[in-house]
Amino acid sequence: MLLEPVLKTLIDDNPVPGGVRVHVDGTLGAGGHARAVLGRAGRLATLVGVDRDPVALAIAGDRLAPAACDRLSRDATVTFVRSDFRRLGAALAEVGHGRAAPAPSASPPPPPPPLTPVDSVLLDVGVSSMQLDDPDRGFSFRRDGPLDMRMDSSTDTGGITAMDVVNGWPEDALAAAFRDLGEDRGWRKLASNLAAARATAPITTTHGLVRALGLPVVAGGRGGRGGKGRGGRPHPATRAFQAIRLCVNDELGALEAALPAAVGALRPGGRLGVITFHSLEDRLVKRAFLRLSVAGGVVDGDGDDLWRPGGTDETGGGTRVGTGSAVEGRAALELRAARAERAAERAERGGAGSAAGAPGAADPPPPLVRIVTRRPIVADEDETRANPRSRTAKLRVVERLNDDGTAVGGDEVDGGGGRDRGGAWYLRRGPKRKNHRGERGGKEER
Ligand SMILES: C[S@@+](CC[C@H](N)C(=O)[O-])C[C@H]1O[C@@H](n2cnc3c(N)ncnc32)[C@H](O)[C@@H]1O
Repeated sequence: MLLEPVLKTLIDDNPVPGGVRVHVDGTLGAGGHARAVLGRAGRLATLVGVDRDPVALAIAGDRLAPAACDRLSRDATVTFVRSDFRRLGAALAEVGHGRAAPAPSASPPPPPPPLTPVDSVLLDVGVSSMQLDDPDRGFSFRRDGPLDMRMDSSTDTGGITAMDVVNGWPEDALAAAFRDLGEDRGWRKLASNLAAARATAPITTTHGLVRALGLPVVAGGRGGRGGKGRGGRPHPATRAFQAIRLCVNDELGALEAALPAAVGALRPGGRLGVITFHSLEDRLVKRAFLRLSVAGGVVDGDGDDLWRPGGTDETGGGTRVGTGSAVEGRAALELRAARAERAAERAERGGAGSAAGAPGAADPPPPLVRIVTRRPIVADEDETRANPRSRTAKLRVVERLNDDGTAVGGDEVDGGGGRDRGGAWYLRRGPKRKNHRGERGGKEER
């Protein structure tokens, strides 16, 4: 998925001196991206493949074994790590990778870190085709199977299953999940149908769940991303299943935790790319990247403009989840929430106006990253034709800055921030820079 843009932005254009030597694939899956990186990164010494799904690790293990990779990078070692990427920092440290945090200037220098920093990280989040297409994993509403949906289905990690959620959560919690995570306009009805059905008998299978939601069972076919129902429209169970899956695996919580951890592991110049498949994930990534790209990590001023509700960034680019108006409404709400957050921060600092230029006011910590893709990269026509599941994929990339907030290539950095008259930190726009294809002009969307 988005293979060529991933290779171009993370490997070819990566400015780390000497080229990419350590690459982390935080969502190894079947190892498709990892294989391509092994084939492209000529200086690669180590590839660390992380996944929470032991089945995926076993399959990738076979595909990335030296015998299966004889035309790929010969000198690279491949290390497999079974972990949730929410604890990516710790998981990488366990295999000797990452980066010690810079010491505060007042304290004595720490002993040299025994960790090797990372040059590139890829997170291709969500569920894999392998997981979706295996009825025994319980992700698919098209083929009947046990109601499971755990990405890590091993018994030793003790996660909740879809059966626990569907039969155990209160009706209003399910309704909120269908509304907020499924973005389904029929959320109230879905939850009440489900509550009524489970009062008769526990729901134990995927087809049982479809019926309990009051929806028709459509058997057969592939249940994957972009799977279509009658008339080319997504099956009505798509969003409800998505909502339950996100709850079972706490996918948004894991992603939110993983982004700063991945940036924290990068060497200056190193790059993080994230591929998402629906607007909830993409919005989360966009906001996190904005936060990490401004001094002090606070988005303000121009941030309002960048986070404009209803802009092409939110509604275009092939996003299929949510209608334009729902997305706009949500973005407006989030914008208000962000403003309220900033007002609270200002109040904490002593009230509007008191911090701006105040004697002794501390400088904010420099930004951690620069945003490489102002707009997400999406699949081109050829790819969407060949793989309909790529229609909703979006790639966003950031680059780690030096500890003083300057870019490794010496390029001026977007953001960097400053303070507005009310004392809040704001994002400053830099000059237009080259996009991943080497063109100037700001737009990087494909
Ligand atoms: C879309 S697939 C990745 C496909 C892969 N890029 C490839 O080319 O084959 C997503 C993978 O990420 C894994 N995953 C999802 N959330 C995860 C998490 N929180 N921690 C670790 N792995 C996760 C899933 O188990 C799945 O194997």
